[in-house]
Amino acid sequence: MAAAAARWALVAAVVVALAVALDNGVARTPPMGWLHWERFLCGTDCAAEPDRCVSERLFTEMADVMVAEGWKEAGYEFVCIDDCWMAPTRDERGRLRADPRRFPSGIRALADYVHSKGLKLGIYSDVGNTTCAGFPGSYGHYELDAQTFASWGVDLLKFDGCNADSLELLAEGYRNMSLALNKTGRPIVYSCEWPFYLRPMQQPNYTEIKQYCNHWRNFYDVYDSWNSIKSIMEWTALHQDSIVKIAGPGGWNDPDMLVIGNFGLSWEQAVTQMAMWAIMAAPLFMSNDLRHMKPEAKWLLQNKEVIAINQDPLGKQGYRITKDKNFELWERPLSDRAYAVAVLNQQEIGGPQNFTFSLTFLGNGLACNPACCIQQILPTSRDWGVHNWVSSLSVEVNPTGTVLLKLVPL
Ligand SMILES: *[C@@H]1O[C@H](CO)[C@@H](O)[C@H](O)[C@H]1NC(C)=O
Ligand SMILES: *[C@@H]1O[C@H](CO)[C@@H](O)[C@H](O)[C@H]1NC(C)=O
Ligand SMILES: *[C@@H]1O[C@H](CO)[C@@H](O)[C@H](O)[C@H]1NC(C)=O
Ligand SMILES: *[C@@H]1O[C@H](CO)[C@@H](O)[C@H](O)[C@H]1NC(C)=O
Ligand SMILES: *[C@@H]1O[C@H](CO)[C@@H](O)[C@H](O)[C@H]1NC(C)=O
Repeated sequence: MAAAAARWALVAAVVVALAVALDNGVARTPPMGWLHWERFLCGTDCAAEPDRCVSERLFTEMADVMVAEGWKEAGYEFVCIDDCWMAPTRDERGRLRADPRRFPSGIRALADYVHSKGLKLGIYSDVGNTTCAGFPGSYGHYELDAQTFASWGVDLLKFDGCNADSLELLAEGYRNMSLALNKTGRPIVYSCEWPFYLRPMQQPNYTEIKQYCNHWRNFYDVYDSWNSIKSIMEWTALHQDSIVKIAGPGGWNDPDMLVIGNFGLSWEQAVTQMAMWAIMAAPLFMSNDLRHMKPEAKWLLQNKEVIAINQDPLGKQGYRITKDKNFELWERPLSDRAYAVAVLNQQEIGGPQNFTFSLTFLGNGLACNPACCIQQILPTSRDWGVHNWVSSLSVEVNPTGTVLLKLVPL
């Protein structure tokens, strides 16, 4: 045991030395909020779809609901605009401007409104000449755009990576925008897609990315489907040796938005997304219509115990320990020597199945040593009582569902 503990301490020391976070004082825990993209995409026709187009009305209504219906209190703080907010051209002084029909009051007024509700505003731009949807990009204007966003009172920038001619321009652009944001003097969460656009050509240098970004996307956009959620989890597990150790206060891997509350996930799959996004220390940006939420989805997304795991101050990302036929066992070390443990059943046929495992598997044998108290958090709250480190647990999990447990040492 002593040898194992010493090895663990050594690993921890090396990791701390590696991972220096962007020094802007924000994102000490994974940021939480709402982002329009997955649910509302690039809707620009407000005459045809007044409730769904990308407009100031969409964001003020979300801000209102976030305050009125407990989202803010649960920790969801950022109201974020994605692509398609801009006018097709810059103004006469070269500055970005919002589409005047859809944002008649302008972004400054929207930021003031969001701030008056005790929330924060996120905005979107792109490292290249145009955004992914073809609106003006920030290339050649990084400092001006950073100054513009800061002058409007923006609190988060999602910076996309479409339309960069080369890997050099991509990397320089992400670095330069980070420095430009710093120069404004305003703490602005900087959300990057740098490793995602780099990876097909080159192994990302995460040490460097963490010095410039607060969180970063590694993999494809999330869709409102189980296939999408599965592929994100599998990608994360397959790359965990390089990405897990880099995550920590100030810098997070971003597996993309929560799609709970939409159309594509069953209840079990929604539980799996919530549980696994907590295990992965993921930024929690919902993309759904908060004006029309079923009570179950709201219960899940506002679940205090799951959010507490996601927001654990130690800031270590979890990882997959084993994959045994259809079952996956994941763990995440938490503060005060506690652990979160997820048991995921990937079988897509039949009924509930039991997975039985020894607690000696967890935390290199240290998670429940000599004994611990086990609390089930999802799919329902349940007390499992006191166990010792050689106990076996038998956990019944529905197809495509997850059981999330918290182990607290005694
Ligand atoms: C800018 O960077 C410096 C040095 O890393 C840091 O001390 C400062 O807090 C940063 N300011 C902002 C607004 O990010
Ligand atoms: C933007 O367009 C200019 C002119 O075509 C080009 O030189 C430059 O490389 C482009 N920038 C990026 C980031 O691709
Ligand atoms: C980044 O900033 C450096 C220093 O100001 C400049 O030389 C370089 O052209 C910039 N690169 C891009 C892509 O804007
Ligand atoms: C990765 O980036 C860091 C920080 O910029 C640098 O010190 C290190 O040499 C880079 N590693 C590789 C393999 O390029
Ligand atoms: C799983 O194990 C529990 C406890 O041993 C048992 O009550 C339950 O019936 C089992 N479920 C299945 C699907 O085998």
